[in-house]
Amino acid sequence: MFQPDFTETESRQPASWQDYLVAQDWQHFTVDEHGVWDTLFARQVPYLGSRIVTPFLEGIPRLGLDQPGIPELGRLNERLELLTGWRCVPVPGLVPDDAFFAMLAERRFPIGNFIRSADSLDYLEEPDCFHDIFGHVPLLAHEPVARLMQAMGRLGVQAIAAGHGEIIARLYWHTVEFGLAREGDEVKILGAGLASSFGEAHFAIEADIPRPRFTLRDAAATAYRSDAFQPLYFVSDSLDAAAHALEALDIAGLRKLAG
Ligand SMILES: [Fe+2]
Repeated sequence: MFQPDFTETESRQPASWQDYLVAQDWQHFTVDEHGVWDTLFARQVPYLGSRIVTPFLEGIPRLGLDQPGIPELGRLNERLELLTGWRCVPVPGLVPDDAFFAMLAERRFPIGNFIRSADSLDYLEEPDCFHDIFGHVPLLAHEPVARLMQAMGRLGVQAIAAGHGEIIARLYWHTVEFGLAREGDEVKILGAGLASSFGEAHFAIEADIPRPRFTLRDAAATAYRSDAFQPLYFVSDSLDAAAHALEALDIAGLRKLAG
């Protein structure tokens, strides 16, 4: 999950996004940690089955994510890069916003190189590899999302430099992390924050809360919660419609959204 903190971005020295990378060192994961992945996977997939956009579900076997245990990123990247040119890159935890968007601009997706503990399956201080891999990577194998995420990265770098980081963060949050999308007659989960959260996946679909139609203007004008379930969830007309709308947005359009 991307958790914006523009104060930190402004106060530190610039660094290249490569400075935040670490080795995955897959061997360091214990049997218990692989078991946490398997528990989360087995709990999440049956619920998402009929409630998440179809390309997400298709991405799981295409990428070999249906195999037990925490994925080894080298093997995952072999499949992912062949499909859309994206690669997963391990990071120790949250990276600053400008580095995050710079990674996306290069079709690199940061993966927190740790997993939550077995006794706190539903509590995350910061995004772990289950959120980052299971939540985000299946849709990175879907070309419209692959293009959108790179475009979001390029625009994010420009937006932060132009002082509009909050606007790009809202657009990202209300789609890539916590968006819903129509598929046929149904409203389905789109966002990784929902796809990887047992509690919020149920809440977003089943709770009696507002689900307004997604527009760039409304999403840009709507604050989000990073410390609680969202008070509303935007519903895009379709996954690909949301991807195309975001991909087409440029810095001039973003300035207009900022008012
Ligand atoms: Fe995320």
